[in-house]
Amino acid sequence: MSSIQGNSAQSQTWSAGGYARHAPFVPALGAPLIDRLDPRPGERILDLGCGDGVLTEQIAQRGAATVGVDASPGMIEAARARGLDARLMNVERLTFAEEFDGVFSNAVLHWVKDADAVIAGIYRALRQGGRFVGEFGGHTNIAAISVALRAVLPTHGVDAPADWYYPTPAEYRSRLEAQRFIVNEIALVPRPTPLPTGMAGWLETFRGTLLDTLPPEKRQAAKDEIIELLRPSLCDERGQWTADYVRLRFTAQKP
Ligand code: BEZ
Repeated sequence: MSSIQGNSAQSQTWSAGGYARHAPFVPALGAPLIDRLDPRPGERILDLGCGDGVLTEQIAQRGAATVGVDASPGMIEAARARGLDARLMNVERLTFAEEFDGVFSNAVLHWVKDADAVIAGIYRALRQGGRFVGEFGGHTNIAAISVALRAVLPTHGVDAPADWYYPTPAEYRSRLEAQRFIVNEIALVPRPTPLPTGMAGWLETFRGTLLDTLPPEKRQAAKDEIIELLRPSLCDERGQWTADYVRLRFTAQKP
């Protein structure tokens, strides 16, 4: 699956159980990316930020040999429980050299601090002609949610984070090309995402570590304020919450 599930572990911790309950859409909506990867029997595929291995397993079911990497011990444990070759590794410090036909990454690359280090490691990991197929948060991703966090958290004495890496297609293309990748396609894809456990579940799953920096008595108040700020734009008349996700989707090749 990929969801960095921890490759940004410096700033966010993950629980495989909580993730599966609050964010099943991550692997579910990432599954079509496997068609773009088109893994074949006999190929060797690296799943970068494999999380609990839901998508890695689907790649393996197509006959490819897979290796999943993730920086979250809990996620690696969950992936290994599926019988996968899953390794604890920071995606900014990949240790592979010319051994994969494809690198796959879903919902991970927005967490990384050093995008160039990740791209360099992927380029090194690929064989000549190998492909890099990925999707992650792109420019304007979760814009409403980010604004609400920035509006509320400082009033409780917490700096809203500089946030994550949501590049434009032009910016990410230039990073890929600077490291000799040929970019076959790259585009922003708006993908409004229904949240099975509402904005409360999303905040617990993806901003829980940040909210935990607040004293307990302020934590719930801050969460409620964020939710109420977002309700008019992200919650419909039936109470269904939808996150304002925008994906950056791309395919690149090592010449
Ligand atoms: C994303 O997949 O775009 C995302 C997930 C959690 C927090 C921020 C962004």
